[in-house]
Amino acid sequence: MKRADFTPQNVTDSPNVNTIFSIWVFKDNIDIKHSFERVCALVENFNNSFRTRLPNTEASCVMGIGYEAWLKLDMPMPMPLELKTFNEIKGPKHTAVSTPGDLHFHLRSTTMGACFDMSMALSEVLIEIADCIDEVQAFRYWDGRSVIGFVDGTENPQGQDREHYAMVGEESDLYQGGSYLFVQKYLHNMKSWNSTSVEEQERVIGRYKMSDIEMPDDIKPSNSHTALTNIEDEDGNELKIIRDNLPFGNASKGEIGTYFISYANRFSTTEKMLENMFIGDPVGNYDRLLDFSTAVSGSLYFVPTLDMLGDYSA
Ligand code: HEM
Repeated sequence: MKRADFTPQNVTDSPNVNTIFSIWVFKDNIDIKHSFERVCALVENFNNSFRTRLPNTEASCVMGIGYEAWLKLDMPMPMPLELKTFNEIKGPKHTAVSTPGDLHFHLRSTTMGACFDMSMALSEVLIEIADCIDEVQAFRYWDGRSVIGFVDGTENPQGQDREHYAMVGEESDLYQGGSYLFVQKYLHNMKSWNSTSVEEQERVIGRYKMSDIEMPDDIKPSNSHTALTNIEDEDGNELKIIRDNLPFGNASKGEIGTYFISYANRFSTTEKMLENMFIGDPVGNYDRLLDFSTAVSGSLYFVPTLDMLGDYSA
């Protein structure tokens, strides 16, 4: 089957103004298949219904399925090649932790009302078969900045490249149009970050803060975030992912963070970036952003096409 025969989920959408992220874990000893069929139908329905009724809301719902869930659901296709339980990545100082997750939902819209309605309808079905172990309401911060004040997303692939880097391509007939989704919730030490000079913050990221311009290579530190996440394959081709990170925060509790979310045509690209960040390149030369940011969750999913979800309920 060719790509044209597939209808992907909206993995290439741009980050939206409002987002709800949620992670669900199936309850034990319960029949999950019937309710899951209903969830698949809802995912398809949301995307079609909002587009028809309220196109200005730009509402979209993307569902990812984890490794354990793929087995439990007895999916009609074999396990995607690079889907696994995320193995924690332990560096000399910081760890990319691995936390549970059977289903991940990424609900985006220009209006929070649409995210809320999608979340409510999904929860009504899911609550019977799964526990929600994390739900984060995130928002666009000023001109697309992360909560640490730097624009987040500038070097994302644009146009046709988004599809190329976000979705499995022609190399796999079976999974073409699907995507490897990886998420991490980071909490920032805002006190420490805010007491760091802007010049030093710029050396942490490798870009200038106000202008969002990249530092020249001869000035950019090798342990800056963008030096370590800009990677190539052995033939010198750039390896990229689509990032849709957004800030979240409860200022009164001091819980302020970034919800990192990426879509990729293979997980190994994201994994290599994580190794560079946490272990370092070379080993020990880890990402300085981690001295201000702690990963408190980390899980991997596969995002099937809408056709694959349709096959499940067929
Ligand atoms: C670039 C923030 C985690 C991959 C950037 C930039 C910022 C940023 C401000 C520069 C502008 C841009 O191109 O987007 C953050 C924050 C994170 C985080 C606040 C969490 C605390 C991650 C993780 C990965 C990653 C976990 C990969 C697994 C990238 C990539 C780039 C980038 C690929 C573009 C590098 C380039 O080609 O210049 N990030 N990031 N980021 N980040 Fe992150």
